[in-house]
Amino acid sequence: MRLILFLLPVFLLAKENWFITKLEYGKMLYHNPRGISCAKCHGENAQGKVIARYYITKNNQKILKTIKAPDITNIDFDTFQKKLFHKKLSIMPKYNYLTPQEISAIYLYIQSLRNKK
Ligand code: HEC
Repeated sequence: MRLILFLLPVFLLAKENWFITKLEYGKMLYHNPRGISCAKCHGENAQGKVIARYYITKNNQKILKTIKAPDITNIDFDTFQKKLFHKKLSIMPKYNYLTPQEISAIYLYIQSLRNKK
């Protein structure tokens, strides 16, 4: 983890001469976007997952509630980008420091996961 953070500037400088592909770069960023990993909430394959389960009591009945991060493999690029720069989503953090190159690499990687369902 630390090693990846340490190497990140090296990857960025090496842009002229990629020694990792854009897809690999996207994968790395998906797991380590200089913030909370997307995979933690959206899952390894970006297909969404339950982040938390809790109970509420209503009329003396226990009701199970879940908080989910949605599937993000079927989303167009515009929406994708907007969501990363959102003003107000309930749970997901903002990633407005990501550069256009980083965003397009993450998007490319997520698109590649679409076929893995
Ligand atoms: C802490 C959990 C969490 C993390 C980390 C997270 N997300 Fe999310 N994401 C959510 C939740 C929950 C939603 C649903 C909207 C809401 O309520 O916040 C969401 C919504 C989205 C959407 C919009 C989906 C739609 O159908 O509108 C996209 C795109 C997205 N996330 C991409 C990402 C990417 C890319 C990363 C990493 C850079 C990331 N998310 C990190 C929890 C997370």
